Amino acid sequence: MPRLNLSQFDNEEDFPSADRNSRRLKKLKPDHKSKLPRAILQRELAAQADHPESFNFTYQASRHERAWIIRSLGGFYEHRWIDNVLRLLKGGKEASVYLCAANASAPAGEFIAAKVYRPRMFRNLKNDHLYREGRANLDADGNQILDGGMLHAMHKRTAYGQELLHGSWIMHEFQTLQRLHIAGVDVPKPYACDNNAILMDYIGDPWMPAPTLNTVELERKEAAALFERVIHNIDRMLAQECIHGDLSAYNILYWEGEIRLIDYPQVVHPDENRSAYRILERDVRRVCEYFARQGVKADAGRIAEDLWTSHGRPVKLEVHPSTLAEEGE
Ligand SMILES: Nc1ncnc2c1ncn2[C@@H]1O[C@H](COP(=O)(O)OP(=O)(O)OP(=O)(O)O)[C@@H](O)[C@H]1O
Ligand SMILES: [Mg+2]
Repeated sequence: MPRLNLSQFDNEEDFPSADRNSRRLKKLKPDHKSKLPRAILQRELAAQADHPESFNFTYQASRHERAWIIRSLGGFYEHRWIDNVLRLLKGGKEASVYLCAANASAPAGEFIAAKVYRPRMFRNLKNDHLYREGRANLDADGNQILDGGMLHAMHKRTAYGQELLHGSWIMHEFQTLQRLHIAGVDVPKPYACDNNAILMDYIGDPWMPAPTLNTVELERKEAAALFERVIHNIDRMLAQECIHGDLSAYNILYWEGEIRLIDYPQVVHPDENRSAYRILERDVRRVCEYFARQGVKADAGRIAEDLWTSHGRPVKLEVHPSTLAEEGE
């Protein structure tokens, strides 16, 4: 198993305690007359109530990471989803995924994976409007945000607006996982979500998490079957009006001959986003590139076109003014 460099988490900057407004709110009482939006105040107060200091876990985290875990996963502990945080599965600049012990009353197996986002993750996402085009902004309950003040804050990207946008990305990922799981797409079963984390089925065993497909060498026969399976999944996603938006072998887990597609915050709607076809084409091409290395030859452009038209959509090559070129194409 790869050794993790834990010193990368020793820096407080890696785990900001909260944004400036939230920090200020820490000492506020519910009846405090604040100029800050009530929604922030209520959420911060709820978060204080939700995040018990007594959440002890066995994973040896640095001081700042520990505080960040308590803040991000304490609510799930309180609501008896998880009993323990056992191990860091993958820590990165954008999100960290932890192996947790599920509470016996949770409708899950022995383990749950918790994906916890960095507070600034989506602020740094290059070209985020490319993915946000044509999709609603969602609040913490998963409902479309219609409130004028909240929409204005997001438009102006105030601290409050950034917080709302951050929550909306996560809610999109969670709702997509829910919808796709019900539709039979090969995704980890999602369980719960809050403003900064998603709980889902853990793929792997107690000793080893499932590797991502890019690290796996396949026999040609198995590669051909898995390639069909991935394309089938893309087709099923299109039937659910979803395009992954960041699909590649890096976002496919491989475990005991089966696959799970992960990492959905960038999902786009095929009919509501002007770049949808190009994004689909890129997903298919990246998948084909991996399988070509495993001996499966395929024409990515042709497959993308067939997938698109088989759902009754005319091929259109109109691209959003901010093209995929900005995305490293
Ligand atoms: N349900 C899961 N079960 C086991 N491992 C998982 C699960 N979900 C994610 N992981 C591990 O965590 C890693 C990061 O997850 P994900 O791709 O969703 O986040 P990310 O923000 O894209 O992070 P990165 O940029 O490092 O890929 C995955 O590559 C995988 O190794
Ligand atoms: Mg990923």
